[in-house]
Amino acid sequence: MFILDQQSSIASQFLAEIRDVNTQKDPLRFRQNMRRLGQLLAYEISKELNYQTKAIETPLTVSTARVLEDELVVISILRAALPFSQGFQDLFDRAEFGFIGAARKPHAEHEPVEIALDYLATPELNNKVVIIVDPMLATGKSIVKSIDSILKNGAPKALHIATTIAAPEGVEYLKQNLNTPYSLWSCALDEKLNEKYYIVPGLGDAGDLAFGEKL
Ligand code: URA
Repeated sequence: MFILDQQSSIASQFLAEIRDVNTQKDPLRFRQNMRRLGQLLAYEISKELNYQTKAIETPLTVSTARVLEDELVVISILRAALPFSQGFQDLFDRAEFGFIGAARKPHAEHEPVEIALDYLATPELNNKVVIIVDPMLATGKSIVKSIDSILKNGAPKALHIATTIAAPEGVEYLKQNLNTPYSLWSCALDEKLNEKYYIVPGLGDAGDLAFGEKL
């Protein structure tokens, strides 16, 4: 598992701001920091991709340069992923994009979380590099359910899971329940889940912070 925050970088400041109740009062800054973290994590993932050399003509001469060879599909889990996945769109501007609607079903405290999937739109995935983007890896159930459903649309050549904050319980759930090879990338790895399955210390509800509370 790759954890961006294990090395000192400006990512630590963006993470501090998205967690801080004072800066959280500014939703534009929250979304912007999510987007910047998405850009930084996308850059890290880009180091694992395949490139090909091609001839390019500069104003001065003909030269060669390396360009992305892999066909990428970035799939966002709605709605919380949107600002974070914008960072991936910024860097992987020639990718295709997909969307999944996933939400926790209403549940009592301590009862297991169940996930409802209600929207799926992806291109064909055969032989493409798929990056699935979900900012909060809490129980891991929405990612596992989402991946099970997208694999009906083809067999990717590689699968990357990108999150802003991961909980150890979610990381373990992926290990136990994903039957396909994957790489996990997170900006931070937190301590644990609380009794409502929120990540601690975490940041609260990423979707509400970006877009306002839902009914
Ligand atoms: N989703 C969130 O937005 N926050 C959490 O802590 C867990 C899931």
